[in-house]
Amino acid sequence: MPFSSLEAASVSQREKIPVQVYPHANDACRAVAQQIADCIRERAVAGKSCVLGLATGSTPVGVYNELVRMHQDEKLSFANVFTFNLDEYFPLQPHELQSYRRFMRENLFDLIDIPKENALVPDGTLPIEQVADYCKWYEAEIEKAGGIDIQLLGVGRTGHVGFNEPGSAKASRTRLITLDRMTRVDAASDFFGQEHVPRRAITMGVGTILDARKIIMMAFGEHKAPIIREAVEGEINSNIAASFLQEHPNAEVILDQAASANLTRVESPWLLGPVTWNEEKVRKAHLARSLR
Ligand code: GLP
Repeated sequence: MPFSSLEAASVSQREKIPVQVYPHANDACRAVAQQIADCIRERAVAGKSCVLGLATGSTPVGVYNELVRMHQDEKLSFANVFTFNLDEYFPLQPHELQSYRRFMRENLFDLIDIPKENALVPDGTLPIEQVADYCKWYEAEIEKAGGIDIQLLGVGRTGHVGFNEPGSAKASRTRLITLDRMTRVDAASDFFGQEHVPRRAITMGVGTILDARKIIMMAFGEHKAPIIREAVEGEINSNIAASFLQEHPNAEVILDQAASANLTRVESPWLLGPVTWNEEKVRKAHLARSLR
């Protein structure tokens, strides 16, 4: 999306996390997969491991498909890779359709050459009294692996990353959390009814996520546009965990055009500086005035 230098300066004042908008989600996923592959290959050449923080949901599936393709067609090896997933419903058995562990096996782990013991997903099967210790162990395993090099994130409509629901503190670590009503509504179709959606989940904390050396948050589709604007242009606040990414030195947001629709640069670019008016911009300006 081309901008004059005046507009570009204003965009960076409004957008407090670097944002890249791709024409289609597929293009975005290929670019993200390429960044991951570059890290894996660079580390392999140096005889080191690459540590990935992974997300579930529909958003990162295109990234996983592309990584599997690279494994098959380009011999990308995951032998030097460690992965830590963000979250898992609690309680939930790993064979259940909605289990994030099952999701990761079906979409990635079983299709590549990652050593099984290197791919961790929080355990939703533990007795509740063991969960706190388990969460500490999960954090320690991340540290033992050398910390996360690249953390992939989707974002929920509540602004959660992982399952860090509104109210999650910046310093929060891996823990058991109670799911927000909106999150359970969104998950209802996966569970064939909201009443079957677990009330809790184990999630990495905001602080765990912010410790990653690089963070890539992806969002596709118009239903994500309002929360993306709040996370990227709004004030940092614990009601929107994704807004904490504004304080990370190496975070980026990857969008398709639909998810960028509420950013000022798309919705009302005339607020950022001189624009070349065309029919579409005039229409948007009229709409913006009528909504005021
Ligand atoms: C769930 C997951 C999040 C994910 C979000 C969005 O809540 N815990 O990690 O980002 O869903 O899912 P989707 O990518 O399907 O929109």
